[in-house]
Amino acid sequence: MPLRVHITTFGCQMNKLDSELLANELLDRGFQLCQTPDRADVVIFNTCSVRQHAENRVLTCLGRLADSKARKDGLITALIGCMAQRQGHELLEQFPALDIVCAPGELHQLSQLIGKARAGVGQQIAVTDRLRARRNIPPELEDLDVRHRPDQAANQAQAYVRVMRGCDKFCSYCIVPSVRGPEISRSPENILAELRNLVADGCIEITLLGQTVNSYCCLHAGREVSFAELLRTLGTTPGLKRLRFVTSYPRDFSDDIFHAMADVPTICPYLHIPAQSGSDSILAAMKRSYTAAEYLALIERGRTIVPDLSVAGDFIVGFPGETEDDFQDTVRLVKAVGYKNCFIFKYSPRPGTAAARKLPDDVPTTIKRRRNNELLAVQEEISLDLHRTFIGRTVEILVEGLSKTARKADSEHPHQLTGRTRGDHIVVFDAPSQAGQLTGKLVNVIIRDASALTLFGELPMPNPRQ
Ligand code: 5AD
Ligand code: SF4
Repeated sequence: MPLRVHITTFGCQMNKLDSELLANELLDRGFQLCQTPDRADVVIFNTCSVRQHAENRVLTCLGRLADSKARKDGLITALIGCMAQRQGHELLEQFPALDIVCAPGELHQLSQLIGKARAGVGQQIAVTDRLRARRNIPPELEDLDVRHRPDQAANQAQAYVRVMRGCDKFCSYCIVPSVRGPEISRSPENILAELRNLVADGCIEITLLGQTVNSYCCLHAGREVSFAELLRTLGTTPGLKRLRFVTSYPRDFSDDIFHAMADVPTICPYLHIPAQSGSDSILAAMKRSYTAAEYLALIERGRTIVPDLSVAGDFIVGFPGETEDDFQDTVRLVKAVGYKNCFIFKYSPRPGTAAARKLPDDVPTTIKRRRNNELLAVQEEISLDLHRTFIGRTVEILVEGLSKTARKADSEHPHQLTGRTRGDHIVVFDAPSQAGQLTGKLVNVIIRDASALTLFGELPMPNPRQ
């Protein structure tokens, strides 16, 4: 009887990709995947450390492990992801019901660790020693990416492809460089091989992943391959319909990338490019190495070269020392950019980061919350105005599956589907009979209505003369 594995994933797209690669690997090694933790023989938590809130959710799950083990004889429990690298040893000590800790840089070892834990030789741990000194990706780890196949459980038309690991920017608030290690770009050959395999298996949309994806730079055959060059190469893969990339880092963004976006039809006119703040003094304290004016000028250049460019951002409110004036600078930047959408976070001090070491977390929670809500409201108005300009237009969407509404048992719209435009706008529409057949396909829909979060469309009426 094969062992059944359930993976719960917290955090960013990088974690979603790691969970998928791990699932592939475990399937290859004879495990079975199961959709609910209750029936699993092995439960895995893929964790995030970027804010305290994310860690707290995982700590709650870990607190329940002893009960789960009492209910199921022989249950193996594992923690992977950023928390594994950051606090692996402490977590094993604190939670005796946790069997395995395995950091993102050691994921290739997980199936072996599961074997050892099952053999009853005690708690197992693999975290990377001197992670920041790592200069190369271990071949077995790289191999997990190279052997990437489309997700069996989800929409097989879409996949993430990592182009680099880690981050060297050390923004003062951010835990990522210490838990994900130094920036290491993957070889263009391996990326291309992975992407071609995915496309051969039916993927039509690929999203390239990197913490600072546009900083990609790889020495290959005696010369440096830039991100723009990589995009041009990948973008012309036969069969690929859409190529996206996240997340961009403003300072390293060269116009070559915009030109590649304008020239290669598969590259989607979409950027996720966090500004984090609109105040120059806060940006300096964050060590972001650009000013609000430089950021805005970059977006404007982008819109000149790629006219239909759609832009999403991240902002942190309540960074140490953020005054009301600083916050109003952020509001002004948000308005000036006209984002498609923004992810807004309340500052959360992360142990070991420069900000947590040197700057008191001096903006009260109530003010952080108020600024968060105010910025959300500003963005909501912008998103709504932008979305209304779509009404009456026909857009191409890649159908991702049933909408949230349709997935409810008592839904009035049991066949409502959801998909995304090339600019990453979410569209829902009714597809009375062919719901299943449209998932994973590109279809044109006419936009009839809009809210701040969603566009509402319909399939064009079939032409009676055809
Ligand atoms: N506190 C709040 N938000 C943070 N982010 C990263 N670190 C922190 C932190 N310490 C946000 C940034 C980043 C996103 C992934 O998470 O906006 O772009
Ligand atoms: Fe964190 Fe800054 Fe690197 Fe992004 S660029 S992962 S915010 S250190």
